[in-house]
Amino acid sequence: MSVHTEIKKVTTQTLQKMKANKEKISMLTAYDFSFAKIFDAAGIDVILVGDSASNVMAGHETTLPITLDQMIYHASSVIRGVNRSLVVVDMPFGSYQSNSKEALVSAFRIMKETGAHAIKIEGGEEVLESVKRILAAGVPVMGHLGLTPQSIYKFGTYTVRAKEEAEAEKLKKDALMLQEAGCFGIVLEKIPAMLAKEVSESLHVPTIGIGAGKYCDGQVLVMHDMLGINNEFKPRFLRQYLDMNTLITGAVQHYIKDVKSNDFPNEQEQY
Ligand code: KIV
Repeated sequence: MSVHTEIKKVTTQTLQKMKANKEKISMLTAYDFSFAKIFDAAGIDVILVGDSASNVMAGHETTLPITLDQMIYHASSVIRGVNRSLVVVDMPFGSYQSNSKEALVSAFRIMKETGAHAIKIEGGEEVLESVKRILAAGVPVMGHLGLTPQSIYKFGTYTVRAKEEAEAEKLKKDALMLQEAGCFGIVLEKIPAMLAKEVSESLHVPTIGIGAGKYCDGQVLVMHDMLGINNEFKPRFLRQYLDMNTLITGAVQHYIKDVKSNDFPNEQEQY
C-alpha cells in the first residue's frame, strides 16, 4: 500500500516518507471552507492557503496587498473543512521581512488563530534567521525559491527564474541552507526543469514544483487556474482540468432565463 492511501492524517513526516518511497506529493491551493472540504475528501495531500488569495480572491494584481489578518481569515476557513490534508499557510508580504522577531510573532498568530499545521515563507539566505527562529519555536516551515511573487517589483516580470548560472548557484545553496535549517519541504516556482531535478536529487526533503517540471517530488497549482475559474491565465506550465468559467457562466445564464420567464420557482419549489 502507498503512504498516500495508508495515512489517516498527512503530517510533515508523511511527506518525508513519500519522498523516500518515491511517491509524488499532490498540493493545491484553497482559500475557503467549501473548496477545502472537497479537496480534502478527494485525497489531496497538502492544501496551501496561498497568498495568491490576494489575486484570485481579492482581485489584486500582485500578492503584496494581502494582510496577515486576511490570511488568517482564509486559513481558519480552510481548516474547518479539512480532516486529512496537511494545511500550510503563506506568510504574507510585510509580515516577516523586518526582522526575525516580527516573523515569529506572525507565525505564532497564524498557528494560534487558524489551527493550521505549517507556514510557508519566500526566500533563501535573506530570511534564514527568521526561518530558524520560527522552527526553533516548533512551527514547521516550508521554503519557497525561484520565482517568489512577493519580490515581483524587484524581478520586474513573472518569467522563468534561475536560467543564468549565478542565480541557479544561489538557488542551490539556498535550498541546502533551508534544508539544513530544518524546513520540511521547499516550493520551487518557475525554474528550468533540469535545475529543479538537480535540487530535488540533492535534498532529502521534498520539493514541490509549480512550473518547475516533472522531476520535483510533488506538484502544486493554484485552484482557480487548474479548475479554469480564471480562464484568462494560461501559462505553459498550467494543466487545466475543468472549464469552470464556462460551466458557471452557463448555469448562471440558465438561472437568469428561468427567473425572467417565471419558470423558477415552480410549484414543487415553494411552500
Ligand atoms: O500563493 C501561492 O499560491 C503560492 C503557490 C503559487 C506556490 O505560493
